[in-house]
Amino acid sequence: MVLEARSVTKHFPVRRTGRDLVAGRRRTVHAVDDVSLELRRGTVTALVGESGSGKSTVARLLARLHPLTGGEIRLDGAAVKAGRGRSFRAYVRRVQLIFQDPFASLNPVHTVRYHLTRALRIHGRAGSGEAELEENLTALLNRVQLTPPHQYLDRFPHELSGGQRQRVAIARALGADPQVLLADEPVSMLDVSIRLGVLNLLKDLKDRLRLAILYITHDIASARYFADTTLVMYAGRIVEGGDSETVTQRPAHPYTQLLIASAPDPDRVAAEAEQEETGGGEPPSLIDPPPGCRFHPRCPKAMERCRTELPPRFDLEGGQWAACWLYADGTETGHGTETGHGAAGHGAAGHGLRKESAA
Ligand SMILES: Nc1ncnc2c1ncn2[C@@H]1O[C@H](COP(=O)(O)OP(=O)(O)O)[C@@H](O)[C@H]1O
Ligand SMILES: [Mg+2]
Repeated sequence: MVLEARSVTKHFPVRRTGRDLVAGRRRTVHAVDDVSLELRRGTVTALVGESGSGKSTVARLLARLHPLTGGEIRLDGAAVKAGRGRSFRAYVRRVQLIFQDPFASLNPVHTVRYHLTRALRIHGRAGSGEAELEENLTALLNRVQLTPPHQYLDRFPHELSGGQRQRVAIARALGADPQVLLADEPVSMLDVSIRLGVLNLLKDLKDRLRLAILYITHDIASARYFADTTLVMYAGRIVEGGDSETVTQRPAHPYTQLLIASAPDPDRVAAEAEQEETGGGEPPSLIDPPPGCRFHPRCPKAMERCRTELPPRFDLEGGQWAACWLYADGTETGHGTETGHGAAGHGAAGHGLRKESAA
């Protein structure tokens, strides 16, 4: 194993309104709650969910761009300590983040050569002398299949296609010689026709460099194609996990079933539902998330206990698991999911109202 998150939680404070001040209230966005996952060398793990479900926050926590509210991150079995010093730089060398929009992440006034040289220098991998640097630059571009490399080195970002820009961003990440790549929707801004090429490149890197890759996406169909393991996130929590084939072919959690039914683009479906204000179709507010299972207000199979009791993980066959009371006959595998989130938790009064109207 390389990188592990254990019960990681992130709550963002919400700016206080006048009303909050009067009520003496501090509200928080529960962006990520009790998320545990493992990224292993030579495997791709997909993190799938609608926009706003907390996926980017998970990536940013794993990249140590945000401090944790709770839980811990372990790299090669050792707990990672907070702080921005030398250990942070060593961490960043091993865990690199790739963003959705390669145009925004590359500086328009600098060439490919500049971006890659800078990455190599920062990570002490530029070599000694011009010739060695040139060799290392060429190797990076070859690695991401921008060939022949000399045709790309002196180009500016606007002289490249979207797919080529994302390849440069990937090459820059590889400049650190990392063990983990956190790829946050790496192809969702790209033309459909070139997405597969970039995903295949990542797959090739996984195999050849034995990288551990976290592949964040709202497109569960691409997870099946590309990822070994798939985790499904809803409203800040991971609700299902298992090998990608099983999760996509035999989804256990009603939310995963909904995602697959609304594929290929759950984001679009969610946006439409929101526009129509159907009331039942949109993800909940993360400021005051529903008690019990966060999916229960939308779940066609919700039972009474789903409204009040947070479901723990239940193990199914072949390593698949789901945090859903439908599987309560199975084996419970804990992960401390039931602590502090009972019906008596925060905002109980508001939720009481909802409970009554739903009953
Ligand atoms: N820096 C931040 N400050 C406050 N709220 C944030 C911040 N970053 C993300 N959030 C909130 O956290 C929730 C999850 O966001 P995000 O992780 O970006 O989801 P996703 O990547 O799945 O679309 C959203 O409600 C978002 O508004
Ligand atoms: Mg995101």
